[in-house]
Amino acid sequence: MRIGVLGSGEVGRTVAAGLAAAGHEVVLGTRDPTSADLLDPLPPRRTCADALVSGEWCPSTKCHSRLIHNGDMTKETWTAVDDYVTALLVRPDDALTGAQDRADEAGLPSIAVSPPQGKLLHLLVRASGARSVLEFGTLAGYSTIWLARALPEGGRVVTLELEQRHADVAAANLERAGVADRVEIKVGRAIDTLPQLTGPFDLFFIDADKDSGTEYFRGALELSRPGSLIIVDNVVRRGQVADPDNDDPAVRGTRRLFDAIAAEPRVSATVVQTVGSKGYDGLAFALVTG
Ligand code: SAH
Ligand code: DHB
Ligand code: MG
Repeated sequence: MRIGVLGSGEVGRTVAAGLAAAGHEVVLGTRDPTSADLLDPLPPRRTCADALVSGEWCPSTKCHSRLIHNGDMTKETWTAVDDYVTALLVRPDDALTGAQDRADEAGLPSIAVSPPQGKLLHLLVRASGARSVLEFGTLAGYSTIWLARALPEGGRVVTLELEQRHADVAAANLERAGVADRVEIKVGRAIDTLPQLTGPFDLFFIDADKDSGTEYFRGALELSRPGSLIIVDNVVRRGQVADPDNDDPAVRGTRRLFDAIAAEPRVSATVVQTVGSKGYDGLAFALVTG
């Protein structure tokens, strides 16, 4: 595993040595100048490296290894925070939690947006006043319900799904959530369905297969108007997106998408990195400006 260690002081170097001895590739960074007080007293050196190798935090609260990046190292904490804010602020109702349960029962993959992310999509639809939404990748309709519930009277969601089995579960979930009348599921390869659609759509959520993101972005742009917002899920991929040598097709697909966005003068875009129950990932936002 390639692990970046932030902190080239005594602890950083010791941890790096432990990781290197365990066969990991270590990249040593500069130390955060404000963290000097964390360095003393030091935990037993071995404990820290061992904890990292096993994917946990160093047991010492003062240990500098809190600053060491290692993929899912803190996923437990991120999930606890997701659970906390979901219970307090997001508050998914029975239709949303039930949609997840039905998806699980049907053996669909557990890859829907998290509740806080679903609520974010919902709020963006409301904040932008979107009346028409196009989604790529329905799965069991979890994100679709969040999107559809944000629409004003007369609004609509079109959602594209490859698998008939997923679409069937989604259709039942949308019915139970009371939004089936404003959602149309189109089954087939999104790339084949796109030409049949009539725009403009006000907001897009791209969340289907990750190697075709560029084509979906271009298709979305074709069906947009100035002011439309294009949102893309899973664009950080545990940080792998920053590695030009990564040969995972999803990473390559995402980098190709970013090149397309960067070269497109009609959008203004950013990426927000996210952590939570789904690990470390991120969302891209592209506003159509012209
Ligand atoms: N947006 C959903 C999750 C979507 S998961 C949610 O957050 O609740 C990705 C979905 O994209 C899967 O259901 C998968 O079947 C679908 N998919 C994969 N390739 C596709 C393609 N070429 N066209 C349309 N959908 C596709
Ligand atoms: C996967 C797909 C997603 O859209 C997601 O948000 C997480 C994981 C996947 O295909 O593994
Ligand atoms: Mg996704």
